[in-house]
Amino acid sequence: MAQDDTRVRDQLIEAFLLADGPVSGEELSHRLGLSRTAVWKHIKALEQLGFAFEASPRVGYRAVRIPDELMAPLVRPHLPPDCLLGSPILWAESRASTNETALELAQKGLPHGAVVTAGEQTGGRGRRDRAWASPRGGMWFTVFVRNPCALRHAPDLTLLAALAVCRALRADGVPVEIKWPNDILLGGRKTGGILAQIRAEGEMVDHAVIGIGLNANFALEELPEEIRDRATTILHATGRPIDRPKALAHILAELDRLYRDLRDGRGFQAVHAEWIALCSTIGHEVEVAVGDERVRGMARSVEPDGSLVIETSPGVTRTVVSGEVLFSDREHI
Ligand code: BTN
Repeated sequence: MAQDDTRVRDQLIEAFLLADGPVSGEELSHRLGLSRTAVWKHIKALEQLGFAFEASPRVGYRAVRIPDELMAPLVRPHLPPDCLLGSPILWAESRASTNETALELAQKGLPHGAVVTAGEQTGGRGRRDRAWASPRGGMWFTVFVRNPCALRHAPDLTLLAALAVCRALRADGVPVEIKWPNDILLGGRKTGGILAQIRAEGEMVDHAVIGIGLNANFALEELPEEIRDRATTILHATGRPIDRPKALAHILAELDRLYRDLRDGRGFQAVHAEWIALCSTIGHEVEVAVGDERVRGMARSVEPDGSLVIETSPGVTRTVVSGEVLFSDREHI
């Protein structure tokens, strides 16, 4: 979709959101600087995206259904005014991968705080380059940040993103937990994941794309059969859908606070205790993939630098800086 069309679409949605009654075609065409026919075409395009309008002759259009897509005009009203994340929000009905788009746009001067979102992903990627199922109804988005931190603090980007997601969803009554280092669990099953990709310049992270995927408002059957026993969706687990634009705004607001602190030198360490309290991995038997190696034992703690301490045999511990928990006696993973 051309940039101009996207701008008109967003302005049109905004006009309907702000209106407390029907808006006439004439007023819309005046506001948007477009012909009545062009306005009508844009309204038809919105209908294709799930909007519904009631049109009354000589009175105008009233929006009677607004889908909860992660579109700028639907997310922005929920963002705190000083939030540095969420401008712009670049939504598309379908993308291969929001991380991929963000990495491409990074080369073209994408500003700090931009968020790339998608109604669905056709080539979503997870950690270890695995495919990430991303059907409609989920939350698929990538936050773009410039100069977020020193390279040695790069792991904080994902640890803090997991915390932001937990804070926002828990405030909305969804009791998610974190599986070290950056999976989001609900009832012990995976409901979200984070994939951060960074570009470094010397000792600094030049820019990073933080991809967040949440299985939100779709049926479990939409996920590939082979992961259904260890994954879940918010809708499936809680029986109710979440307001996706509002949830995205809340996540961005939390993430903005955490990333500002990270830039000021207060990263994971500053929220260590809160993070630990949300982490379901500690105190359980785990098997962790560290490269090609498997480390098995009791997860004892997550250190203030984000590493996982595993007791491999009585009194013997191993500290793992990054890896993936393959098995735990607590979780259905
Ligand atoms: C994981 O393996 O747990 C990480 C999954 C990350 C998925 C998100 S969805 C939005 C963004 N775009 C992608 O292609 N991946 C991330």
